[in-house]
Amino acid sequence: MSNLLEVKNLSVEINEQEILRDLDLKIETGTLHVVMGPNGAGKSTLSNVLLGHPNFKVNTGQILFAGQDVTNLSPEERAILGLFMSWQQPPEIDGVALDQFLFLAYKNIFSARDKAWIAPSVFEFSEILKKQAESLKIKPELLKRSLNVGFSGGEKKKIEMLQLSLFNPKLAILDETDSGLDIDALKIVAENINMYHQNKGTVLLITHYPQILEFIKPDFVHVMVKGKIVTTGGEELINNIKQTGFSSFIK
Ligand SMILES: Nc1ncnc2c1ncn2[C@@H]1O[C@H](COP(=O)(O)OP(=O)(O)O)[C@@H](O)[C@H]1O
Ligand SMILES: [Mg+2]
Repeated sequence: MSNLLEVKNLSVEINEQEILRDLDLKIETGTLHVVMGPNGAGKSTLSNVLLGHPNFKVNTGQILFAGQDVTNLSPEERAILGLFMSWQQPPEIDGVALDQFLFLAYKNIFSARDKAWIAPSVFEFSEILKKQAESLKIKPELLKRSLNVGFSGGEKKKIEMLQLSLFNPKLAILDETDSGLDIDALKIVAENINMYHQNKGTVLLITHYPQILEFIKPDFVHVMVKGKIVTTGGEELINNIKQTGFSSFIK
């Protein structure tokens, strides 16, 4: 199997403070990786940098995705190549209707991926959207409202999952998609992640809380502390973390 993502020797700073240090990570196509670590370890920084957030400065290292060096590409270019990130804290944008935002993003992504692609009509798209929203138990009236404005934490996370289903990326980076969800929403979100993975999607799931891992079976578990991946293993690491927290990984 080939590596879909390869992060080599990555060091990243924000506001002149180094957050990631010599970080290495390889993700093979079709695998499901979990990154766990205490608050402030740099997990969200890693996901933001993988998607090209402009606030973070890459000092050294390289990000290779699907055989291409994407280190200096814009977030839009990365999304077209098949990178996807769900935000730990999805932004609220007043005045931008959720369904219109999704339609525009959908058209931009798929037409850039395939020049011969024919966009659906507004009506056809709204049918696609309704179906996907239903499977995530998203109330249809949310789709007409301003993007995330006044949405509950759980509703925002489900909208992120809706985007994952719509945009069909090669790699889904899910930053604490489990936080703020009640148990029913957590199960629905976990089911969706599993479905995406069973359909050959590759997953990098970031969490600091092991509960979602009762529903999702990772191929690899990485522990991140102070801007570095300090341990990589299998599922057995989860039990370890459940019992002793992250303290045993902090030197
Ligand atoms: N915009 C920012 N300005 C300054 N420091 C930041 C900024 N964003 C993140 N950091 C710092 O980077 C470190 C890692 O944060 P983060 O990546 O959010 O960790 P995690 O997601 O693992 O909790 C923290 O010490 C945090 O305070
Ligand atoms: Mg975080």
